[in-house]
Amino acid sequence: MCGIVCAVGAMESSSFLLAGLKTLEYRGYDSAGLAVLDASGALRRSRAKGRVAELEARVAEENVSGQVGIAHTRWATHGVPEERNAHPHVSGELAVVHNGIIENYAELKAQLEALGYVFVSDTDTETIAHLVQACLSGASAFVGEQKVPCADLFVAVRCAVSHLEGAYALAVVREGEPESLVVAREGSPLMLGVGAQGHYAASDASALLSVTNRMIYLENGDVGRLTRDAVELVDARGDRVEREVVTSHLSADSVELGQYRHYMQKEIFEQPQALGNTLEMLSGAGRLQPGIFGARAEAVFAEVDSVLILACGTSSYAGNTARYWVEQLAGLPCNVEIASEYRYRASVANPRQLVVVISQSGETADTLAALHHAKSLGHRHTLAICNVPESAIVRETALCFITRAGPEIGVASTKAFTTQLAALFLLTLLLAKGHGRLMGQGAGDGADNACEQDLLDELRHLPVAVEKVLALEPEIEAWAQRFSDKHHALFLGRGRHYPIAQEGALKLKEISYIHAEAYPAGELKHGPLALVDGQMPVVVIAPNDELLEKLKANMQEVSARGGELFVFADGDSRVETSDGVNVLKMPEHYGLLSPVLHVVAQQLLAYHVALVKGTDVDKPRNLAKSVTVE
Ligand code: F6R
Repeated sequence: MCGIVCAVGAMESSSFLLAGLKTLEYRGYDSAGLAVLDASGALRRSRAKGRVAELEARVAEENVSGQVGIAHTRWATHGVPEERNAHPHVSGELAVVHNGIIENYAELKAQLEALGYVFVSDTDTETIAHLVQACLSGASAFVGEQKVPCADLFVAVRCAVSHLEGAYALAVVREGEPESLVVAREGSPLMLGVGAQGHYAASDASALLSVTNRMIYLENGDVGRLTRDAVELVDARGDRVEREVVTSHLSADSVELGQYRHYMQKEIFEQPQALGNTLEMLSGAGRLQPGIFGARAEAVFAEVDSVLILACGTSSYAGNTARYWVEQLAGLPCNVEIASEYRYRASVANPRQLVVVISQSGETADTLAALHHAKSLGHRHTLAICNVPESAIVRETALCFITRAGPEIGVASTKAFTTQLAALFLLTLLLAKGHGRLMGQGAGDGADNACEQDLLDELRHLPVAVEKVLALEPEIEAWAQRFSDKHHALFLGRGRHYPIAQEGALKLKEISYIHAEAYPAGELKHGPLALVDGQMPVVVIAPNDELLEKLKANMQEVSARGGELFVFADGDSRVETSDGVNVLKMPEHYGLLSPVLHVVAQQLLAYHVALVKGTDVDKPRNLAKSVTVE
């Protein structure tokens, strides 16, 4: 989703701003722009529809340079992706970039138009530009009782944001104040970089790593003035505050593509490492300690009587998978709700329920709002499973587990998902333990009282097991060719592999644009069988589990209607290739953790089909990486 990069420093800023925008390209966008204050202090702006490369050419052509600047990639919400809607938006001598959505922009726009401000875009952001200008010029509707112009940009932005409703991360520069820029944050992420030669701001730390790894994470309500040598911050009440400078452990290398063709491919192949890092605490022979979820986790896990998982998209499928584990191993009722639905539904809170929010980015607006909603209903026990330690979701939950997948750049989530599954399995084991459901050595996997050590050993072995699935890439690539002329696909799974069918279908649709639907295989005859014909490939996830024989019967239903099956079967599943039935043998049967292996095969299938289709794998159309608006 939209990205912000800003700089006030000793060096010429536009090349840094453009490089920062390129780092943020993975978030998804459809236009880009920047504004700088040039050597004479004049405001210079360049914008372009399309890629940052087009903006770069425009900046070179127009010779836009200066030491203070703000830049933006826009993912269209209000108004089509056209240059006139691209940020920065200007009002008189000032320019603004903004992430988020201003919910009361229509009312503000009407007030500003009545004052004579003329709008030239369809965006909510232009409202902010005119609002700051109105505060600078002392418009009585906005400056309140003092009825005098706001003294400078810092004061004017503080005045302006007091009128905004919604979410924003914003940055403003103004002619006449050539050595500073002003930032503000509410809801949308924004961090400051503290560098040797200046100060910086961005919506994502990765954009700043080329100049610094020392970050200040702004809190909601913060407004700041950045100069080359200082940062001045006030909080939501207007009081001066100091925020901690944190060293980011991200390295510039971790966001490099390296030997891979796409970030998605790189991230699929990083999964053994990502799982190993996430499960590092199991590296000794030690037992599982609840403290990995936070100091109070042991007491909370023993007290809770059920689990409610809230998440969106791929993260919600991790939740759907975990539901099978939690109910089977921990014996606790577990519900999974799509965050964007839960937040608007009248639901009954249970203060003894554990609310688990799952998010790669930790900034997904719907998931964050669902968490706020759960808390407002009286839920006391909240836990985040998240890949970004400094994110809003982590800061707002009582307990947390940070997956260590590393930065995920490809829009389609891969390594974040498998590490979420690993974290959810650990959580399940601790809940089971807290409720007296884990036994000592030898009780066996899947029993009512499973054996802790056996399950931990399986977890420890996961990175190796995933490596073996990755070795299937050539066979999966060959299958992908067969999807080149297809427009629809059906994915079938049962039990804990139904969510993997959902995730496989989501991966395929988002990056190859093939319409894909997932069904629990037993549902086939209740409707979707009507769709099956020679043009509808049916992908089946066929682990050797308690439902395999039922699943084979479902596959017969497809074959009998002329459908072509693509079956991912465990080595010992006794499903063989025949006419209309293509079988790929997975390396090992992996019991409760089998979804982690099967999803890797689904990721590879989607990736290679997308290559065959020639789509933009890492930046699929219309999608954004971090969905920070509703
Ligand atoms: C799909 C995908 C999305 C995200 C969803 C939630 O590949 O990546 O469906 O899973 O937008 O994002 P997070 O996990 O950041 O909350």
